[in-house]
Amino acid sequence: MSTLNVDLRSVENFIELEDIKRLETDLKIHHHDLVVGTGAGNDFTGWVRLPSGTSQDLLNDIQEQAMKLKDKSEVVVVVGIGGSYLGARAIIEALQHSFTGLLPAFQRPGPLVLFAGNNISEDYHHDLIDVLSKVNWSLIVISKSGTTTEPAIAFRILKQHLVRKYSVNEARKRIVAITDKSKGALKSLANAEGYKTYDIPDDVGGRYSVLTPVGLLPIAAAGFDISKLIAGAAEMESIALGSHQPEKNPAALYAAARNALYRKGKPVEIMVNYHPQLVFFTEWWKQLFGESEGKIQRGIFPAGVTFTADLHSMGQYIQEGLRIIFETVLSVEQSNRTMEVPQLDDDADGLNYLAGKHLQEVNRQAELGTLLAHVDGAVPNIRINIPKIDEYNLGSMIYFFEFACALSGYILGVNPFDQPGVEAYKKNMFALLGKPGFEAGGKRLKERLEGLI
Ligand code: PA5
Repeated sequence: MSTLNVDLRSVENFIELEDIKRLETDLKIHHHDLVVGTGAGNDFTGWVRLPSGTSQDLLNDIQEQAMKLKDKSEVVVVVGIGGSYLGARAIIEALQHSFTGLLPAFQRPGPLVLFAGNNISEDYHHDLIDVLSKVNWSLIVISKSGTTTEPAIAFRILKQHLVRKYSVNEARKRIVAITDKSKGALKSLANAEGYKTYDIPDDVGGRYSVLTPVGLLPIAAAGFDISKLIAGAAEMESIALGSHQPEKNPAALYAAARNALYRKGKPVEIMVNYHPQLVFFTEWWKQLFGESEGKIQRGIFPAGVTFTADLHSMGQYIQEGLRIIFETVLSVEQSNRTMEVPQLDDDADGLNYLAGKHLQEVNRQAELGTLLAHVDGAVPNIRINIPKIDEYNLGSMIYFFEFACALSGYILGVNPFDQPGVEAYKKNMFALLGKPGFEAGGKRLKERLEGLI
């Protein structure tokens, strides 16, 4: 059972209950838009009933494919960017051993999962090839459009490596493609080469796709339980679809609270966690909200910190800088492993007052002390409580944030399912690189750059 809950007690000095109440009509309208599919971008709301609609056959097929990859590989490379990357990485990093790369293979639940196609760094790709030359490996390539430049470059390089290392035929068996069911260069290539493929549903956009094969195959390949992930998401789906009322629907409460804070002059939201394994969960959340809401000169700017490390850096700004911030703290009740602070006979470091305490308890007091300090510094804190980091609770959080993001985007008056702004850099990059069809723009851009570089 998910017991995710949203606690607004530390925003009470900044917004009134009335501020949330005032948003109830918006919540009602936009909840209906999501349930019935009548809002902006409604051809991309397939994620709304995705958890309850995921068939056991699909989960079994993905599990089977994950086992095949596991049998052949010490390493699986997942190629993708944005929504075709961050969800899988968020969940795998949250669940895996913090030092998984240094563990002997038999102590890992699956092959080591590495990521590519999310950058164009020559050093990164060279380093990756160095590693892949020494291990047995396979590849999952993910792109909904099938035409995104970063993953296409990585795939070209990695496919060549696989073919040279094994053979054309064996490389084909080691590649799985996850893409559109009919369109795009990746789909054509997959058909021509006979790769195992999974479809990304037409009505699910990249950043809402982690519960499709886009996230499920890499997560299963890493050895984690995708049935529990889906079960957690399905439970949150039934809660979120059940009511628009903030007291019954935590996603509606969160969406309303962040919009109320935005309207009170807090345009920056910092996601706070106290567990380094959640860094990529925050990255996933940043993409979900940033790409969904940052439009028509509107939107809450999503940022992220990991405490206590960042209390020694960004903590200063949060405590005393511009008062434009609110924090959303992901508070995890229990750790999965236990460790106590040891007792020392001479107490040379003066830490015996902590001896016998679990680190989780010390971390908790750091969290509570920070909460009070930041609230005193005029930084409202929304708290999202979960019992522990596991597949079920992560599934529940994924759906919770997706639903909240869609509602919140609608309240802001934007289409939360498109991303027109990401095309601007691509056009310039293609023009500068001389991609056929972009030559004219290239000349103009090069002239502009002469004055800059
Ligand atoms: O959320 C989105 O739609 C984007 O972040 C895409 O996922 C990203 O641009 C990758 O696109 P594609 O899967 O088509 O390669």
